Parts: sequence; C-alpha cells; structure tokens
Amino acid sequence: MPFAHITGWGMSVPETILTNDDLSKMVDTNDEWIRDRTGIRERHIVHDEDQTTASLAVEASLKALQVANLRPTDIDLIICSTSTPEHIFPATACLVQDRIGATKAGAFDLLAACSGFIYAINMAAQSIRSRSIQNALVIGSETLSRFVNWQDRNTCILFGDGAGAFVLQASEMPGGVLSAVMHSDGSGGDLLILQGGGSKYPATEATLQAGKHFIEMDGKEVFRFATRVMAQATREVLDDSGIGLDELNWIIPHQANIRIIEAAARGLKLPLERFIVNLERYGNTSTASIPIATVEALEDGRLQPGHKIVFVGFGAGLTWGALAAEWTGPLPSERKVYPRRYRLWARIRSFLRRVVRFVEGVIWGRGS
Ligand code: COA
Repeated sequence: MPFAHITGWGMSVPETILTNDDLSKMVDTNDEWIRDRTGIRERHIVHDEDQTTASLAVEASLKALQVANLRPTDIDLIICSTSTPEHIFPATACLVQDRIGATKAGAFDLLAACSGFIYAINMAAQSIRSRSIQNALVIGSETLSRFVNWQDRNTCILFGDGAGAFVLQASEMPGGVLSAVMHSDGSGGDLLILQGGGSKYPATEATLQAGKHFIEMDGKEVFRFATRVMAQATREVLDDSGIGLDELNWIIPHQANIRIIEAAARGLKLPLERFIVNLERYGNTSTASIPIATVEALEDGRLQPGHKIVFVGFGAGLTWGALAAEWTGPLPSERKVYPRRYRLWARIRSFLRRVVRFVEGVIWGRGS
C-alpha cells in the first residue's frame, strides 16, 4: 500500500491588514481587550472584488505545486475545504481546477468548517493509500471578512482571510500521513452558524433585515467545547499512530484563540513552545489556519523533514479532528517544472472551451 506524503505547500493572504486599533474605530473594543482575550493583534482582509476565496486558493496552490515540482496536469484530485465558497455551486475547487489548468483532476469542495483541512487531507490521503489516485491538491481557503457583521464585536475581532495548500503524493517510502480522527456533534450546530443563503433561508429582504447572512456565534460555548476536544483528539490520534507524546516535534493547532491553545497545552502537559502559533498576525482564518501556520514553520526552519507532527482543530458543525504525520518534503525528481507557466495556457484553454460550447450551441440549437 503506498504512503501519502505531503510534498508541497503554499499560502496566500491579502495584503491589507486590519489591526485591533482599526477595529476599535468600528466597534466598542480595544487592542488590550482583544489581545488579552484572544491573542490576536491583526488580521489580513480582502480589499477588492477580485480577491476571493478562489483567487487566494489559486495563489496558494501554484506555490504548493512549485514546491512539489509538479505540473497542474499531474494532479488527479483537488479538494477545496472552505466555509466561504465563491458560490454555493459550482465548487470553488472547480474554479481552481480551471484557473491553474489541472485538466486531469476531479474537484470538489468539503465543508467541515475550521476542521475542514484535517478532514480534506485525510480524504486525499485515503484516496492515495487505496491507489485510487497518485497526486492530490488540498486547499483551505476563506474570505470570512465577507460574512462578518462588522458591527458585532463578539465576532468581528476574531476572523481573517487567507489560504493554504498542500500537495500530497503517493510513494512506497514509509512516512507521510500516519493516521487521523474525525468527529462531529450536530447538536451544537447553532453555536456557530451562518443561517442565510442556503435552502432554509434563501436571500430575501427579510433575511437581510434579520442579519441572517452574517456569522453568529455563542463564543463562551464554543470556547468550552474547544478546550475540551483539542487535547482529547490529539491523544486519540497519537494512540492510533503509535507515536508517543515525547516523540512529537510539533503540534500545529487551529489558530482560533491563544487561550484555547494554552488549555490544550495544559491538557497534554506540554509546553506552549511545542505548538506552532501565529494567530497574533492572522486571526482565525478557519480552515486555512493550519496550512498557513505550517507554511510559516517550514519557511522559518522550525519544521523539518522527519519531524513528527499533529494537526488538531475544531469548528462549526460542531466538528473536530486531528491528524498525525511524519513530515517529508518534496520527493526527488529529475525534471524542473514551472506551474505558473501553465496559467496562460489554462486561460486560453478555458476560453476555447467556452467558444466551442457556444459554437456547438449555435450549430445544434440551444433550445431544442
Ligand atoms: N471588546 C471589548 N469587550 C468585549 C468584546 C470586545 N470585542 N466582546 C465582548 N466583550 C465584553 C462582553 O460584552 C462582556 O462584557 P460584560 O461582562 O459587561 O457583559 C465581557 O467582554 C466578557 O465577554 P465574554 O463573552 O465573556 O468574553 P470571553 O472571555 O468569553 O471572550 C471570545 C469572548 C469570543 C473571545 C471567546 O469566548 C472565544 O474565543 N470563544 C471561542 C470563539 C471561537 O474560537 N470561534 C471560532 C471557532 S472555529
């Protein structure tokens, strides 16, 4: 059975930064309160219509392909984990597929909120392990700022925008994704919810007036749930993978609140230094937070090939989960590829396919 290795990674965040001081001019809050209660100092926010969940995902994906040294056409499967998709359908993963020119890939979105990236890597890894595919692109991308009520100080201080992507590849060499656990408890669905825009509350004047198109959250309850499950899921996945706590190099947790990560550290009796934390600069980017933290740890040299790591997260649903892996890095390869060069070709191809569809429509008749 082949192993599923994480061989490429990339991230993308919008340039615009929103600081706690900026927020204090919008709602009744202040820098000290936000830093004390959450650990967050600033977050990145999309600033024009062209910056979307798909555009951030495309940037992160091209970087991940570059690191893995794979062409977009080498990818068999694209999973985009997101709670803020470009549209309800088509899937954001399909938009990415078209824009990067991944012509041989199947593509779908996965919604497990902030736990989604863990679920998505596990799905891709299982497809590799069962020999159904060779190479997968797994993306976590969010533009939460588009769904935040900027007058609600309970939520608007927490969230940020961004994307991260991993490439997973099959190899007979042992290592890579070792095990994963996934959990849910839908009885807590109302604790963190975006009610409007789905089939229950399609957009109407009334749903707009009622604020149903914004994120609503019971912060205290989510906090209690999160502190309970983080250490528990980490222990569970370590038991499954046979890795001891003392062998573990890094825990890369969902970046929601420093107090939640501190509670997990206490629960596991590990020092906070064993956790990769960067939420002070990004806020909670939901499903993108784990890959963004991972990319930063790789770029500053903390995370190295051979390291044993656990990703652990929780989120709306309620969902939670953890995944244990041995870090690999790019697989050896003779050729050098430039995934960005495929973008122009992808655009031309996409344009030509639309033209062909139009011409076929004219020839065969559109209405018949
Ligand atoms: N600025 C200043 N004061 C604020 C505030 C803000 N942004 N938000 C709330 N307050 C006030 C409250 O009104 C309350 O005042 P009161 O005591 O006069 O009623 C006080 O601060 C304490 O509020 P509380 O809600 O008890 O704060 P908290 O310590 O629970 O922190 C969260 C609030 C949201 C930071 C915290 O509950 C949390 O992080 N929860 C988890 C959320 C999360 O991670 N969501 C994403 C999951 S993926």
